[in-house]
Order: sequence, then structure tokens, then C-alpha cells
Amino acid sequence: MIATLSRALDLTEGEPLGHSMRACWIGMQLAAELGWDDDIRRQLFYAILLKDAGCSANAHQVSSWFGTDDRRAKRDLKMVNWSRLHEAVRYAVRNAAPGGPAVRRVRQIVALGRRGVGAARELVRERCTVGADLVRRLGWDDLVPEAVLNLDEHWDGSGYPLGRSGLDIPLLARVANLAQQVEIAWSRGGGPAACDVVRARRRTWFDPELADAFLTMARAPGFFDALGAIRDPEDLAPVAPAARDGDVLSVESGLVPMAEVFAEIVDRKSPWTVHHSERTALYAGRLAEAMGWEPVTVRETVLAGFYHDLGKLGVSNVILDKPGRLTDEEFRAVQTHPALTADILSPLAGVDPLNRVAAAAAAHHERLDGSGYHRGTSGRDIPPSATVVAVADVFDALTSERPYKAGMAPDDALALMMPDAGRQLAGDAVAALAELVRSGAMPLVQAPQEVAGVLR
Ligand SMILES: [Fe+2]
Ligand SMILES: [Fe+2]
Repeated sequence: MIATLSRALDLTEGEPLGHSMRACWIGMQLAAELGWDDDIRRQLFYAILLKDAGCSANAHQVSSWFGTDDRRAKRDLKMVNWSRLHEAVRYAVRNAAPGGPAVRRVRQIVALGRRGVGAARELVRERCTVGADLVRRLGWDDLVPEAVLNLDEHWDGSGYPLGRSGLDIPLLARVANLAQQVEIAWSRGGGPAACDVVRARRRTWFDPELADAFLTMARAPGFFDALGAIRDPEDLAPVAPAARDGDVLSVESGLVPMAEVFAEIVDRKSPWTVHHSERTALYAGRLAEAMGWEPVTVRETVLAGFYHDLGKLGVSNVILDKPGRLTDEEFRAVQTHPALTADILSPLAGVDPLNRVAAAAAAHHERLDGSGYHRGTSGRDIPPSATVVAVADVFDALTSERPYKAGMAPDDALALMMPDAGRQLAGDAVAALAELVRSGAMPLVQAPQEVAGVLR
């Protein structure tokens, strides 16, 4: 499950799906080479898969500072050494508002120059602290969040956010940093590029001992072929630690906290969607309960609510944060998000009940009359849970403030949705919503801490 969800983090960082899984495999090979014991290997495994948990926290800022697609900027930022001013300036010149009018480009570059390296530090700090907090909420303490927090520190002290150096950088962070840079270089230029990066940054970015261990390991025939074969979460099975009592997913009840954390990752991507997924999950759960569904189906519906907009992590903030009307092209880009949700969750296809959760999440923009997207399915071909998530999603979108509109009162939102009942939106779900709104049992929530209470 975590390997599957790490694909969502890859998308936010502008990396190809599977980046985190391959970085994890590299780290685990290194741990085996160094003879680490089971316990520390286990923590390394999760630390690398979740290294980018804070990825969405700075997406809005990256996009507004560079005036460009956050995913592209983030992809490049990983390779640049921001503490060297000339590298930073070169990067800014190349990337600020690309393709935009010259005046805008100049303005953007001047603004970036004023912020200087402090800006980069701030971007990294936001990402790393939020990531470490989220990982802690998933149930890991000490080593795993420490690794996430120190991911971008460099051996010579030129990294962020604290500028730690040498052995002061936690060991798992040193391995995670090496592993991610190796994967990035490999995905752009194959094995030789990966080894070049390690040799070039040995002692500046990387712990020389780890760098040497990697270079020895990488000489083994077939090493990079084996790396390239890591495509699905199952491919990590040979290096995955055995499940243990108390693991977040070893008990059924772990599914909801995990979904809550990933919903928060999605909602943090844009200032306009803060808590949207959480509220959609909460509203969907209330509707399903009011409709008299079985508790197990209610829970699947809630989980689908949490995950429904996972694909938005793959949409540029230039579009998500745009204060005005979207162009046709921009609208089409937004419309890719349910397909991306399906894509991210596709490894769950054979895993009951998560396969149903994934199918419902990906179908939340389908409409009964077939006018929805991304598949254009209609009527009974749409999973019932998806039709409830759809009603909850529309209700939250109407009642929340967005860049282009104020939030509506529940009654007004309901009045707007009524004509679609039985046509586009499920009649029974809209009727349940009407009942809840009229009886005052559907109060709008801002930060829905109560979600968990409804579900457990
Ligand atoms: Fe959506
Ligand atoms: Fe949504």
C-alpha cells in the first residue's frame, strides 16, 4: 500500500512513477551490502518510500516563485546546489516564467534573486518538516521522520534545512539522499550517469563511505538491469521487511489514518483545496450511513472520498491556483486527475477491498447520464460508492470558497444540485443530502477532526 501511494509522491515531485520504489530498492541493496540488521533495514525501507511525503506542502510556493509548473521546477531543483549562488542564478534564469513575456520573466528573476538562497532553504524546510510530521502521524517515530527531515542535507554542510554536515546527518537520511540522486541520474542517463553523479558528489553531497559502497555494488553485472525491473510494488517484495505487530497496516484500522494522511498531502497542494478531501470523505460517510448502507460499505466509501483527488498531485499549480477562468487546455489538464488517480492506485487491482476503493475513487467525476469523465461510464456501470463520493464532492465544491467564487450556503448548494438528481447525480444520494441539510445534520466543517470519530 505504501509503495503504491509513493507513486503519488513521485508525480508531485515531477518524477516518473516508480522513482521512490526504485530509490528504495537502491537503498535496500546498500543496506544489505553494509550488513545492516533487520530493524534498521525495515526503517530505511519506509523512510525512502515516504521521503517525499511533504512534497505538496511547497508546490504552491514553487509555482508562484518561479511562475512555472511546479513539477518541472521541482524535478530540476533536486539536481541544483542552491548554496552556490551561480548555480542558483543560472537555474532561475532558465526556469522563471519560461515562455512568458520578457517583462514577466525579468520580474520573476529579480524577485527570486532578492529572496536568494534563503528562498531555497525555506522551500526545503517546508517540505521536510511537513513530511516528517506526516510520517510521524503514520505511526513511525525517531529514525523514519528523522530521515525525511534531513533528506536534503549534504555531507559538506551545503544542504538544507539546517546545514548539517558529515556524521551529524542521520544515517538513513544519508542513504536516502544518495539513493534518490542515483535514481534521478539513472532515469535520465542510465548506469554511467548514476555512477558519475556519485563520483562527482562524493564528499560534497554524499558520505564517502556510502558512495564507495555504492560504486562497488554498481559494478556487479546486471545491477542496473535489476533496478530497471522495479516497476510495481510487488517487485519490491524481495527487499521488503516482514510485517510486524503494531505496523500501521498490520491491522485493518490502519487504513483510515493512512488515507487521512494522504488526503492531507493532496489537499495541501493548493491553498484552495485545504481539507477538501477530508470533508468529501466525511460528507460521503454521512450520506452512506443515512442511506442505510452496511458499515463495511460506508467505510469503503469514506476511503474513496479520502483518495478521490489523489491525481490532482499530478496537475500543475499554475492551473490549480489560477484565480481566473481556465482556458480549454487548462480545463483538459484538470480533467486528467481522475485518470491519474486510477493510474496511481492501479497496483491495488487484485487487493480486496482496496480494489473497490480505488475504482470508486477514480470514478468520482463519472455521471449517471454518461456525461462525466474520464471513462464516460453511465448508470449502473458506475460503482455506487463513486456516486455518493460525487455528491459529497460537488456539495463541498459548492459550499467552499475558491479563487473565483465565495462558498454557498448549504441550502443554496442543494437547490443547485436538485435538478441533476437522477440525471447526472445519484437520486438516492441527493435525497439523503437533502434530508441531512434540512434536518441540520449536515453542518459545514472547516477542519474536520471529527472525520475519524464518524468512522471508527
Ligand atoms: Fe475531482
Ligand atoms: Fe474533489
